[in-house]
Amino acid sequence: MLTKINHIGVAVTSIEEALPYYRDSLHMNYEGCEEVAEQKVKVAFLQIGESRIELLEPTSEDSPVAGFLQKNGPGVHHIAYEVDDLVAALQEMEAQGVRLIDKEPRNGAHGTKIAFVHPKSSGGVLTELCQPGH
Ligand code: CO
Repeated sequence: MLTKINHIGVAVTSIEEALPYYRDSLHMNYEGCEEVAEQKVKVAFLQIGESRIELLEPTSEDSPVAGFLQKNGPGVHHIAYEVDDLVAALQEMEAQGVRLIDKEPRNGAHGTKIAFVHPKSSGGVLTELCQPGH
């Protein structure tokens, strides 16, 4: 069901300011930036091996990432596990009593389908499940 860690989400106040560290100092492969309107964030992906770092910058004051930054400051925001069947994974977890933020898949970057598990059910680690698009 889970196949790998797809990416680790990192909340930043500015992608422009955070990018040189990952791209120029860590020499990760910068894949580009896009806005995910549904989540009120701008995201940049940096690829390393078969995983990525996803930099998340809020585009609005009421973005969940803006709330995270206010509470915690910049830093690790979530871990995203790749699944081959997101709907099946969500149904199984819900049947097990796992609290979900998203009971239905929603749209992520690059045409992916994503859903978040509630931190109360994942030991304080915000967990994303994602199914790549085609
Ligand atoms: Co993510």
